Amino acid sequence: MNAVLEALQFRHACKKFDPERKIPSQDLEMILECGHISPSSFGMEPWKFLVIQNSELRSSLREVCWNQPQITDASDIVVILVKPDLLKPDTDYIKAMFHRRNMPEDAEKAYLDRYRSHMQEEVEPVMSYYSWGSKQCYIALANMMTAAAANGIDSCPIEGFEKAGAEKVLGIDTDQFQVAVIFALGFRAGEQSKRLRADSSEIIEYM
Ligand SMILES: Cc1cc2nc3c(=O)[nH]c(=O)nc-3n(C[C@H](O)[C@H](O)[C@H](O)COP(=O)(O)O)c2cc1C
Repeated sequence: MNAVLEALQFRHACKKFDPERKIPSQDLEMILECGHISPSSFGMEPWKFLVIQNSELRSSLREVCWNQPQITDASDIVVILVKPDLLKPDTDYIKAMFHRRNMPEDAEKAYLDRYRSHMQEEVEPVMSYYSWGSKQCYIALANMMTAAAANGIDSCPIEGFEKAGAEKVLGIDTDQFQVAVIFALGFRAGEQSKRLRADSSEIIEYM
């Protein structure tokens, strides 16, 4: 079977992790690298990955994550932060991200202009910079969960958290970063829930 399909069939939102099993550090690094090299709009890499291993911090985080046991039982917790304010047009961050491409000056200006008009005309009318950046964080999330699954490692994406509470627990400077999404990594313990999906004929349409 195709290796990617096999990994995706292995993956499920793991509800019960084995608290005794830890992910080898080289596997964790490989998973994080798959997030690091994920694609992002205009190549702006609007993320940062916090790997939460400290058990006291994990207990405090669990309190603002609907008391979900995955937060304390999984081997590792990764909090994906987004940089909403830095993504606004003409910030030093955006300028530096284009500047690193070493383009001729007029091409760099054209990119900055295109970015500004795209943000103002297409993004700002329909969503916040938090939402726009988070959409891309979810690409990194998916790549990391698939990479984990391809190596027999379980995961659970977690949106069940109080954003302000999680940022407080983690001591985040919210002018720079905000919590986009969290995921747990580790190894399943026992039977997990059955996969439920609509019939593919309901969700795939060829035109
Ligand atoms: C963005 C996102 C947030 C989620 N948040 C949670 C969560 O907080 N807790 C949880 O147990 N599962 C969470 N899930 C898992 C979903 O409930 C699960 O993916 C869905 O029911 C399908 O099941 P499966 O992933 O096992 O196939 C989340 C999934 C996604 C994609």
